[in-house]
Amino acid sequence: MTISSPTPDSWHIAAGRTSYAVALDDDGRLRLLHWGRSISDADVARLAARPDDLFVLESTYNPRVTDELSFPDGVDQRIPTVRAEFASGSRGLRLAVSDTSWDDTTLRIALVDSVQGFEVVLWYRVQERSEVIERWAELSNLSAAPVAVVTAHSCALALPRRVRRVSYLAGRWAADPRWTQSELPEGRFELAESGGYAGHRAKPWFAVDDGNATEDDGEVWSASLAWSGSWRLAIERTVHEGWHAVMGIAEADFRYLLDAGERLTLPAVALVHSREGFGGMSRRWHDHQREAVLRDTLPRPVLFNSWEATMFDIDEGGQLDLAARAAEIGCELFVVDDGWFRGRDDETGGLGDWEPDPAKFPRGLRPLADEVRSLGMDFGLWIEPEMVSPGSEIMREHPDWVYAFPGLDRVTMRHQLVLNLARADVREHVWQTIDRLLREVPISYLKWDFNRPITQAGWAGHPNAQRIWIDHVRALYAILDRLRAEHPAVRIEACAGGGGRTDLGMLAHVDQVWTSDDTDPYDRLALQHGFTYAFAPNAMSSWVTASPSLLNNRQSSVTYRFHVAMCGVLGIGDDIRAWTAEETAVATKLIRWYKANRETIQNGTVSRLAYSPELTAVQYESADRESIVVFAFGHARRFATRREKIRLKVSDDAGLYVDEHGRLFGGSELNAVGLGVELSGDLDSTASLLRRVSGSGGDRHSCADQIESAR
Ligand code: DGJ
Repeated sequence: MTISSPTPDSWHIAAGRTSYAVALDDDGRLRLLHWGRSISDADVARLAARPDDLFVLESTYNPRVTDELSFPDGVDQRIPTVRAEFASGSRGLRLAVSDTSWDDTTLRIALVDSVQGFEVVLWYRVQERSEVIERWAELSNLSAAPVAVVTAHSCALALPRRVRRVSYLAGRWAADPRWTQSELPEGRFELAESGGYAGHRAKPWFAVDDGNATEDDGEVWSASLAWSGSWRLAIERTVHEGWHAVMGIAEADFRYLLDAGERLTLPAVALVHSREGFGGMSRRWHDHQREAVLRDTLPRPVLFNSWEATMFDIDEGGQLDLAARAAEIGCELFVVDDGWFRGRDDETGGLGDWEPDPAKFPRGLRPLADEVRSLGMDFGLWIEPEMVSPGSEIMREHPDWVYAFPGLDRVTMRHQLVLNLARADVREHVWQTIDRLLREVPISYLKWDFNRPITQAGWAGHPNAQRIWIDHVRALYAILDRLRAEHPAVRIEACAGGGGRTDLGMLAHVDQVWTSDDTDPYDRLALQHGFTYAFAPNAMSSWVTASPSLLNNRQSSVTYRFHVAMCGVLGIGDDIRAWTAEETAVATKLIRWYKANRETIQNGTVSRLAYSPELTAVQYESADRESIVVFAFGHARRFATRREKIRLKVSDDAGLYVDEHGRLFGGSELNAVGLGVELSGDLDSTASLLRRVSGSGGDRHSCADQIESAR
């Protein structure tokens, strides 16, 4: 049983090594008893019987510290989870638990305001294999008049009192998502994005600890919001010493009218607890995404993408040349990026009229796609379906299809406007456009871009335009899901001017995400390092691009660029026609190596071994523990070439491993002493592969025999 009720008024959600327990107290309030390492049902029953032990610092003046829901009840000073405005003019709520039910994996606790006719249902769900608990709220208008929901966080979290530090993924365009840590302030810590996407400045994800957790040790509590729209995270001190967190829909500009009987289900917040530091935490996030979020864990193909190779200067002949080269070096998928459609010679036009440019592709896209396929690769295409250029035909025909405020000029960003996907006709048009393309051209991969935030979220004539903050995202998810249902062989990459659509919600609807527009390999190491804390490597798209790199002119070797991109889903994004014979040979060899080991890299257990300005190293161990891949990167290394011993995190201490040079290592040796790698100068790198030749259980004697026979 993963969910039990040790006493009539308490519930224990047991997710493997994690327990989450709640109880109704004598006042009928739902309180958190415990979120942390696994405890027993009997422990939960005892905790529920002694609520004063837990709530000792609360007082009659303001007792709300550990309630599972915060709302304006007249006493609660915490940030509300939910707020609503009623026709009567009331903005308060009087919610009391009215009903509870549960099964093996789901717990439902309903709270009703019977005076005003409003219900909040708190949901808890266990993802057994990944030990993740999901929480979300569902809001219903039980009255006869419309109710405006103005605050819609998915849940309130009472964080442990010992928590002192918050870790998060932050940055900016072409510099996201970077691992960032700060001490929690007295007062409030807040992150948010208001543009209708996860955004570049932060991801809807955080972790907290007591300030002492390390990569391998210590307790960490982490949460990730499964939502690809405007979002908010706030962690605040309660009046009585605790920490209160909310996560959910951004409050800015939000107002969602619920008609009589209408319900609003909020996105889930997934929760992870780790006693093995940040490493254990991220491995749980990876397991969760692979087991319960991503559609599959099939190998992601090695792709070629045209963007940095040709930009808008695209035509059939040039793409055919690139395709021939891409096939030669071993690419499996050829993706034509932006610039293939009518009116798209630069970023000022073309979006919305998704017809191949007759000057660039006089025969349409089909001959190119057929040729790509005859070269043994799949064909992929870039598209930005939610956007239109102001001069496009679609805009001329349907000027009311984009978000705009009545009476105000429409403001473009990157010369484009956003389609109002909340409208059923727009949604259908977008679907028809994609469906037509997929039927006309043998496309196996779509890179779905979103290059500007939603602003001016107006909808002329609609009584509740602000509901678009929910409806746009739900419509996007619905189109992506329909696409998967009707074209199951098509894989999708989400992109938003780089990594703006990296979030847990998106991973349930696409296969991988574009991490950042910064493709410089040294910078990329920092971004990839951040990515791995919250997201799995089989969702991390990474390309080898030109040296010097586009954004910062840094020079690096082709091997270094490959090793960095090989840490996730490998792609090539450079003009490979210009590569020397030597570069082509190196690339061909490394792509072959990557394909042979990608199962370990994409689906293996990730351990961050080192991360500093001088040395970065990351290890991947296959699920069957038979192979281990280690990438090491050295920077600004001075004086003579140095041999570095990098201590691994091999799971089989008693295992015996052989590397590609036939050298033998013991598991405990790799863990305690390390793997020797040579790194010199600046931007040097190595890729090591270790195979287990014998597993745990062997005694000294048999181990020595095996070493001998392996020689
Ligand atoms: C932003 C993406 O991140 C790039 O990779 C590229 O697809 C451009 N958009 C195209 O406009």
